Amino acid sequence: MSFQIPRGTQDILPEQAAKWQYIEHIARELCRRYNYQEIRTPIFEHTELFLRGVGDTTDIVQKEMYTFEDRGGRSLTLRPEGTAAVVRSFVENKMYGYPNQPVKLYYMGPMFRYERPQAGRFRQFVQFGVEALGSNDPAIDAEVIALAMDIYHTLGLKKLKLVINSLGDVESRKAHRQALIDHFQPRIHEFCDDCQARLHKNPMRILDCKKDRDHELMRTAPSILDYLNEQSRTYFEKVQMYLQKLGIAFEVDSRLVRGLDYYNHTAFEIMSEAEGFGAITTLCGGGRYNGLVQEIGGPETPGIGFALSIERLLAALEAEGISLPILEGIDCYVVALGEQAKEEAVALVAALRKEGISAEKDYQDRKVKAQLKAADRLHATYVAILGEDELRKGVINVKHMATGEQQEVPLDTFISHMKHVLK
Ligand code: HAM
Repeated sequence: MSFQIPRGTQDILPEQAAKWQYIEHIARELCRRYNYQEIRTPIFEHTELFLRGVGDTTDIVQKEMYTFEDRGGRSLTLRPEGTAAVVRSFVENKMYGYPNQPVKLYYMGPMFRYERPQAGRFRQFVQFGVEALGSNDPAIDAEVIALAMDIYHTLGLKKLKLVINSLGDVESRKAHRQALIDHFQPRIHEFCDDCQARLHKNPMRILDCKKDRDHELMRTAPSILDYLNEQSRTYFEKVQMYLQKLGIAFEVDSRLVRGLDYYNHTAFEIMSEAEGFGAITTLCGGGRYNGLVQEIGGPETPGIGFALSIERLLAALEAEGISLPILEGIDCYVVALGEQAKEEAVALVAALRKEGISAEKDYQDRKVKAQLKAADRLHATYVAILGEDELRKGVINVKHMATGEQQEVPLDTFISHMKHVLK
């Protein structure tokens, strides 16, 4: 009997994991600079949270959730996204009472969606995301977008496109909603079942339909930007002004509607424009969700955030031919020859490690030549050779692999010598 990994999931093998760690490190470092702090929420939540939070007309809720009943008969769901859970925690822990507002949070972890797997689309994927809760300042919208762009730029990506839109406030959306219904209703029978179901529940989502994308009514559909009231328009203009101030290029696309129900005002996506990038080009998506905290039982609190997946980020790096500056190799490989030297090598490797030096030795009873080969494969900076001769003389032979330079070092100063040369 043999086992295979579930569809839409992947193993991240050591070589890949180094890239993940590097990306995680950059993301965390940028969060530190922007003053976002980490929050970790459970992998599963009560199903009801996502029905309310993400919205029951969304694809996520209707088709993609991993929902199960636990032994206590509760309906639980593996989180399909992070925002609803962060907002749940924000409310439950009364973070709206924190003296420092807005509360600026980030998270990183696996999300689960039962989607049809294809390039860039997994059933388990890792999102890095941020949420800023408690501010209605358009400058924070720009900051959130700037942080996402900063992560991509720091990693070396260049072929990016930032698209923004405004979905307006409740009043603007109401007017637009009616205009959409009036527009689609007479010919709604020409649209797919999903669109028909959405007409009265959430007509804006029709604009996001993949099946009916080429229908002529899509092109002529009323634009949300024509329905923004004064306040919403001014807000959107300020977001754009701040983006310009930050030197961030963007396009306005009035047809950008996001796949989750909680958005209003600013919505944005960052796409890869690299040649050879797969059909799914969205790397990052986010926006403002001013009603969500209330929906989840908290006081009226504005919020904005984004999420990006590390899987798509890696694909974008590959498409642009960018290799990450990953430190490879160990500091020192101790080669031992003879029984006594082997015993000594155990202690030497332990002593090196205690000093923060990465060290390795042979555990396969290999000959010297094979041990040297192993050191080479591990990209060891130094190889320290301990044979019977050396032992007798109380020394060890230290070789710098890149230059071939060799030095006999007294055994009792070996560790401090290594500390010194590796500084
Ligand atoms: P989303 O657009 O559903 O938004 O997902 C955000 C990002 O997650 C996408 O742009 C993509 O990079 C990644 N992603 C989504 N599904 C998959 C998948 N099946 N495989 C690989 N990557 C995927 C949200 O999740 C919102 N919570 C974002 C947000 C935060 N809005 C405000 N705050």
